[in-house]
Amino acid sequence: MPETTGARTLLATAVDRFYDLVLDDPALATWFKGVDMARLRRHQAEFLGSALDGGTSRFDLVRAHAGLGIDDVAYDRVCAHLLSAMATVGVGEGYLKELQQAVEGLRDQVVEA
Ligand code: HEM
Repeated sequence: MPETTGARTLLATAVDRFYDLVLDDPALATWFKGVDMARLRRHQAEFLGSALDGGTSRFDLVRAHAGLGIDDVAYDRVCAHLLSAMATVGVGEGYLKELQQAVEGLRDQVVEA
């Protein structure tokens, strides 16, 4: 995704929708109890922005998710919500496929159960 203000705004909108879907999902909501969601939305938008630009990120995903007991089922649900949220802001099919592959590559850093 190009480094433009428009792309950043779109990404922030998508991330907001993403976490709305996550928090509305009874299978996921418990993981986010007590989490500062405004901060997480900000950090996720920043993380995805740098990841999608092919850059590095200051976030350590292993450390961020350590001890949360996240399993593959939860991971799949989160990814599905991320992709639907991206689709609602008009991201095209080809790009969604790339994104799907990119997040698949992060699974081992997040899943521990
Ligand atoms: C698509 C894969 C995922 C990515 C890219 C991702 C990314 C992130 C990032 C960037 C943060 C912020 C780290 C920080 O502020 O230092 C974070 C925190 C968090 N993530 Fe994820 N995450 C993913 C999957 C999941 C899943 C599957 C769950 C649970 C079902 C989850 C639950 C959480 C929680 C609860 C926090 C907040 C931890 C805290 O502040 O104590 N994440 N994630």
